[in-house]
Parts: sequence; structure tokens; C-alpha cells
Amino acid sequence: MARLTVRRLTGAMDPILVIGGTGKSGSRVVAQLKQQGREVRIGARSTGFDWLDESTWDSTVTGAAAVFVVPLDGTTLTGAFVRRAVELGVRRVVLLSGRGVDTPGYGSADNALGNTHVLGEQAVRALDVDWTILRPGWFAQNFSEGFFAPAVQAGEIRVPAGDGAATFVDAEDIAAVAVAALTEDKHGGEIYELSGPRALTMAEAAAEISAASGRQVRYVPLTPEQYVAEAVEQGMSPEEAAAFGEVYDALRRGLDAHVSDGVERALGRRPRDFSDFAKSTWLAVPLPLRDDKPST
Ligand SMILES: NC(=O)c1ccc[n+]([C@@H]2O[C@H](COP(=O)([O-])OP(=O)(O)OC[C@H]3O[C@@H](n4cnc5c(N)ncnc54)[C@H](OP(=O)(O)O)[C@@H]3O)[C@@H](O)[C@H]2O)c1
Repeated sequence: MARLTVRRLTGAMDPILVIGGTGKSGSRVVAQLKQQGREVRIGARSTGFDWLDESTWDSTVTGAAAVFVVPLDGTTLTGAFVRRAVELGVRRVVLLSGRGVDTPGYGSADNALGNTHVLGEQAVRALDVDWTILRPGWFAQNFSEGFFAPAVQAGEIRVPAGDGAATFVDAEDIAAVAVAALTEDKHGGEIYELSGPRALTMAEAAAEISAASGRQVRYVPLTPEQYVAEAVEQGMSPEEAAAFGEVYDALRRGLDAHVSDGVERALGRRPRDFSDFAKSTWLAVPLPLRDDKPST
């Protein structure tokens, strides 16, 4: 019993490594772990960790007891990384994956982003240590910090999402589940599907943001072809634009509209609603004033 107590206490003091700890989910995992008084190490290029340079991996991982892994989309490096982490003494791995990994037809078979998660999950499940997989749907923070943020600032979200709805999940909730999985013993072997509590179309999300910010933000549905053409016009390669365009296929086809129970299962409480996210985000940092010109 005494030994167990000593191990537990020591475990609580061991650093937890957060790969992707400067991003939308990782930065919140770091903040919430620090709030608990945990020692945290961030793995990102600014701290000397580069997914694409294996020579940076060992020094980042050595000494860490647990690791939260935000993978590098478009690569299949997760497996090699988590296996090396376990060789170096990591005893718990929590992987950020994505919704639809196990849904036939969710993404195309040759989609590099999907492969990152499919192969990453396979590798994590084969590890001989505690592991937990998080499968979030669309992040609410895509509108404030992610790829919709410039469009929200400009007042027009021009994407090929049709009338599809998504149960946007707050990255604070993703982080809370990650922190629970990193620090509590009961989440080993769990796969948590994470969503918000209700589905919103892009038009409804834009209306929530307008109400919260006091600035008009509207959704302009594009066809996939229009989206690719606009993205290419803005400097993307046609291949890149097509790959980005594909991200909206599942949303447009209604495959992102279901509510998942992962937040409730992991934390015993309901996930945060999009309107709470919108109010806290745009009351704290208002959108810029601008002329609301009609689009052409
Ligand atoms: N957004 C969504 O709606 C959504 C939904 C489901 C799943 N996901 C998944 O969530 C993951 C992204 O999570 P996120 O949005 O929290 O991350 P994010 O905000 O995109 O941040 C990416 C993180 O990775 C780091 N990074 C980027 N390139 C790197 C490199 N070469 N080497 C080392 N670190 C690197 C960045 O830090 P530095 O730039 O400082 O290196 C940053 O900390 C993806 O796997 C995505 O598929 C996203």
C-alpha cells in the first residue's frame, strides 16, 4: 500500500507532455493541467519539437510520464512517435483523432487527413500502456482561432457546407476530457466521441456569432467547384484546394449532425453549448467594426 501511494504521488509530479501544446486543443490542455498544479512540457516547433525531424523527438519525450498527442495532419508519423515515447518510458498516451474514423464513406479512402487518424488510432490501440482516443467533431474554435476565423472577421463564411449541420464541440471540453484521461485511471481503453449538445447549420452558427458579437456575419454556401476556384484564386494549389474542399463533404451530407456522448461519459456533465462559446469569445474580444457590404 505504501509503495502504491509513493508511486501515485511520484506520478502526479511527473511531467505531462502535450504535443501540439500551442494549438487550439493543446493550449487548453496545457492551461487546464497547470490549473491542477501539474508539471507540463509543450511539444511544438517553438519548443524544439518537430514532427518532421525525428532527431528532436527523444529530448522532447524523455522523462515524461504521459503524453497528449495532437497529430500532424497529412502524415503517418503518429505510430512511430508513440512507440518511441513508450520505449522512452511514457506510461499513458491520449490521442486526438477525429470524428468519422470508423464511419464508412465519411472521407474518401485516399484522404491523407483521414489516414493520419486511421493509422494513428491503430498504432495507439496496439500500445502496451494505458491509452485513450478522443474523436471530436468540428471544433467551435474553428470560428475564432481556426480556418473560419479570417472569414468571420471579414463577415462572410464562404464554404461548400450546403445546409449541413454540425454539433460543434468546444475545445475547452476536448481539453477537459484529455486532462481527465491523462490524470485519472479510469479512462484506459476508452474511445470518446466528442461533440457539442446540439447541431447547427453554418447559417445558424453565423447567426449565433452575429448575435454574440453585434457584427453581421453571414454564411454564403458555395458549390464545391466554386470553393476550389476561390481557393485557387487566393493562391492555393488546385490539389490543396480540392483536399480542403473535401473536408466539407461529410458536413454537407449530414454526417456531422449527430450528438455524441463522450463529454458526458468522460466528465459526467453536458458539453458546452455553441451560444456560450460565442458569447464568451466575442464579448471578450469583439469583432472589428466594418461596413457590411452585400456580397457579389
Ligand atoms: N478543427 C477541427 O474542427 C477538427 C475536428 C476534428 C479533429 N481535428 C484534428 O485536430 C488536430 C488539430 O488539433 P488543433 O486544432 O488543436 O491543432 P492546431 O490548432 O492546428 O495546432 C497545431 C499544433 O501542432 C503544432 N505543429 C504544427 N506543425 C508542427 C510540426 N511540424 N512539428 C511540431 N509541431 C507542429 C503547432 O505548433 P507550432 O506551430 O508552434 O509548431 C500547434 O501546437 C488535427 O489532427 C485535426 O485533424 C480537428
